[in-house]
Amino acid sequence: MLAQRSSNWFSRFKARTIAFFSMAIAVCFLAVSCAGGGGSSSSTPVAAAGIPPEIVADYVHTVMAADRTAYTKHVVNRLKKLEGKEKPDGVLDAEATESWQQTDGIPLPAQMFRLGSEIASDGSPFTYNLISTWNINDNHAPKTEFEKKAMDTVNETGEPYKEYQEVGGKKYFSALYPDKAVAEACVSCHNTHPIHLERFPDKVFEMGEVMGGVIINIPLDEAA
Ligand code: HEC
Repeated sequence: MLAQRSSNWFSRFKARTIAFFSMAIAVCFLAVSCAGGGGSSSSTPVAAAGIPPEIVADYVHTVMAADRTAYTKHVVNRLKKLEGKEKPDGVLDAEATESWQQTDGIPLPAQMFRLGSEIASDGSPFTYNLISTWNINDNHAPKTEFEKKAMDTVNETGEPYKEYQEVGGKKYFSALYPDKAVAEACVSCHNTHPIHLERFPDKVFEMGEVMGGVIINIPLDEAA
């Protein structure tokens, strides 16, 4: 009896849920087709779907920054060594090191970030990357005019820089978020890195300073 009643209740619940979702989907379709009905919709599909690209960039950046912090805090910090130096709070007998492939270590947070970005950007018009005026890795140099201007501005202001740009006839919304020296380890590792010392002998990072930035390019011409 109870089982029957609850199953009745369940089917009514199911019917209502299905009805609700059908209505929600219908409303979504209506919203998208109305917003995109102007003929020139192809130039701003992200805006047409209702979320401005600058907000999308903020969300995406939040996820990237959170993943990097979680990896640093809950993986790298649990290891006993970081680039040859003993870590007092380490509990696992392993090392995070730039040459993780040659040794039996694990990647540094910036390398982990790049490995993810290479997978995500492969064959996709949506791209992201770490860049810096004082880059250790060649792939992280600001390359385009846009990246150079954005990086200079972020170095100066310490604030994100956001702008529309056109690359190869395609429109993008791009945002560069500052990557700051939030821990003593950021500063000491970069300032003593052999490539840094060779390339930028006069650049000594200080705590709180902008060390580079995360660039995010969102394509606007087509859904990626
Ligand atoms: C133990 C050394 C070490 C620590 C600690 C470290 N980095 Fe790095 N960082 C590197 C190396 C090595 C690279 C180049 C990685 C690659 O090849 O992709 C790099 C890359 C970067 C880049 C991209 C530009 C470049 O130099 O290639 C930025 C920006 C950056 N780190 C910022 C930081 C910040 C901010 C922190 C602290 C939260 C930090 N780093 C901590 C070693 C370190």
